Amino acid sequence: MNSWLMLALAVMVVFCCHDALSCPKRCTCHFSTKTTEVVCPDAGLSRFPGDGLPGNTTSLTIQFTNLSVLTSQDLAAIPLLEELHLPGNKLSSLPADLLKGLPHLHTIDLTDNELREIPPRIFHYAPLLNLVLKDNRISSIHPDWLPNNSSLTWLDLSGNHLIKFPMAQLQSLSHLKVLHLSQNKLEELPVGCLDAHSALERLHLEQNKILSLDVKTFSHTANLTHLFLQKNKLESIPPTVFQGLDRLEYIDLSDNRLQFLPPGTLDINSSWVELNFNPWHCDAKIEYLWKKLSTESLQSEPKCTSPENLKDRTIATLTRKEMGLPE
Ligand SMILES: *[C@@H]1O[C@H](CO)[C@@H](O)[C@H](O)[C@H]1NC(C)=O
Ligand SMILES: *[C@@H]1O[C@H](CO)[C@@H](O)[C@H](O)[C@H]1NC(C)=O
Ligand SMILES: *[C@@H]1O[C@H](CO)[C@@H](O)[C@H](O)[C@H]1NC(C)=O
Ligand SMILES: *[C@@H]1O[C@H](CO)[C@@H](O)[C@H](O)[C@H]1NC(C)=O
Ligand SMILES: *[C@@H]1O[C@H](CO)[C@@H](O)[C@H](O)[C@H]1NC(C)=O
Ligand SMILES: *[C@@H]1O[C@H](CO)[C@@H](O)[C@H](O)[C@H]1NC(C)=O
Repeated sequence: MNSWLMLALAVMVVFCCHDALSCPKRCTCHFSTKTTEVVCPDAGLSRFPGDGLPGNTTSLTIQFTNLSVLTSQDLAAIPLLEELHLPGNKLSSLPADLLKGLPHLHTIDLTDNELREIPPRIFHYAPLLNLVLKDNRISSIHPDWLPNNSSLTWLDLSGNHLIKFPMAQLQSLSHLKVLHLSQNKLEELPVGCLDAHSALERLHLEQNKILSLDVKTFSHTANLTHLFLQKNKLESIPPTVFQGLDRLEYIDLSDNRLQFLPPGTLDINSSWVELNFNPWHCDAKIEYLWKKLSTESLQSEPKCTSPENLKDRTIATLTRKEMGLPE
């Protein structure tokens, strides 16, 4: 009798705990007192792994799978979700109500999918702080994609097909600290495009086709510490454009079309300025850059591209005579 009772209890325990700690096939689940993390890394997966998904999942990762469809019903089953990571899948569109049942979701990562458009109100339902849409095919973002009281601090739109700076789409993001727009097709930074982003600390604009900077581009972003402008088509830089950026630690201007820098351009407190791979023309106009490079450590050792007799010479080692300056 006693042993029957024991057996019945044992069966109940096994049944109960197996059920409570369920985990979808092809996924691993990690339970702790505060979080339930589910990771599904299997290329064989092609549907949302809803069967066995713990109802209290707080972090869900589905990566490098054949997943191509995701619905708000799928996600409504896990209302405590805080982080949703979906890199390397086959999602080509998202339903506008996708995040409807997720009042705790603060991070969503959709890196390396096949998204082309971002529909209206899609990110209205969740209190997002981090939004990563890197390496998709996005060319169009609805202006009302995020609520205008959004607290978003990290936005990554790099590696997409944006032709214009998405000014209207970013207008309400006054808490933004990190903005990635690298590897798009931006040709222009419209006047005032960063004025709403006074909290900005890191700005990635590398690998676009930016031709010029307005003198006031950074006049409202005094907290900038890192500025990435390499691999663009900058031919000149307004001499006061970086003034007032007292927290700047790093500027990357390498691989542009700069031939000289006007006096004053780098009279800032930044300790690291990348300047290589520009067509520096080493005549009298290079004097300002030569002085900066030979008196301060900017970490970079740019070389002359022209005139022919100074080609490949390190600018800092030029003599006044070589630059055509009075001795
Ligand atoms: C989630 O549910 C499992 C099984 O009931 C439990 O062990 C875990 O503590 C729960 N986690 C949270 C964060 O509530
Ligand atoms: C993913 O989907 C493609 C096309 O539908 C198919 O050819 C491929 O076998 C699938 N991969 C896996 C691992 O199921
Ligand atoms: C907030 O967004 C709504 C549309 O979603 C718009 O009608 C309204 O004017 C905006 N408010 C502010 C203060 O920008
Ligand atoms: C934004 O406004 C909506 C509706 O008024 C509110 O529910 C939400 O909590 C607000 N979000 C933030 C981050 O303030
Ligand atoms: C700039 O940074 C300082 C110090 O981190 C912070 O107190 C301040 O609020 C920031 N400014 C903005 C506009 O976010
Ligand atoms: C650089 O920093 C020093 C002190 O840290 C400050 O006095 C000076 O005004 C700063 N210069 C510029 C150009 O911001």
